[in-house]
Amino acid sequence: MSKARWLAERRGDPWHRRAMAEGYPSRAAYKLLYIQQRYGILERGDVVVDIGSWPGGMLKVESEIVGPEGLVVAVDLREPVFRAENVRFLRMDVEDPRATDAILDACGGERCDVLVSDASPKFTGAKDVDAFNQLLLTVRAVEVADVVLAWGGNAVFKAFDCPELPVVEQRLRRSFRAYKRVVTPPTLRKRSSEVYMVCIGKAREGVSEGLRELVV
Ligand SMILES: C[S@@+](CC[C@H](N)C(=O)[O-])C[C@H]1O[C@@H](n2cnc3c(N)ncnc32)[C@H](O)[C@@H]1O
Repeated sequence: MSKARWLAERRGDPWHRRAMAEGYPSRAAYKLLYIQQRYGILERGDVVVDIGSWPGGMLKVESEIVGPEGLVVAVDLREPVFRAENVRFLRMDVEDPRATDAILDACGGERCDVLVSDASPKFTGAKDVDAFNQLLLTVRAVEVADVVLAWGGNAVFKAFDCPELPVVEQRLRRSFRAYKRVVTPPTLRKRSSEVYMVCIGKAREGVSEGLRELVV
């Protein structure tokens, strides 16, 4: 899709217009708010890791819920538009092997309570290629959660529905107390194959062990 067409589509999108009117940097805020209303994954005082945080719709939701006693570590290749006292930004490629150490450092040496990954690669327009690249990034986010998410912690991973996804879901189902695949209202409007994998209560270590080899 050309940039001009993308901008025109975005201008006509009611979720985008609502986000601009309500002071959210992106419509993604409503995806997280929908998940939060149903599953209450975030609490005041939590330490949150947000992977793929630019421009910052979800980041603003997280920052407001965790409040001044909480912390949000934002990881992206681009600096988010949203800034707040309780947000620390790491300009990083999450695929970088040093990412987990840098994230733990930014969390103050402790594992986080919640990890949210809304990261998406640049889309090529070729459906299969885009789905595969998204799958790789989703698996990477699960690998990061293995290291940085505390026992009992919650996680949300964005993915595209694809034939390999049930393998990842099976792993998440086994590793968390509860698991749910969620399609949020802003996604429904876009008629995309985007889903959010909502995981409650980390109950096992080694969630991602051998997962990459299974799906690639
Ligand atoms: C859909 S946007 C995220 C929207 C954001 N969560 C919000 O609430 O506004 C996807 C983001 O993933 C980021 N991303 C893609 N690949 C990445 C990587 N390897 N490391 C870090 N961030 C990445 C992109 O830079 C982009 O900002």
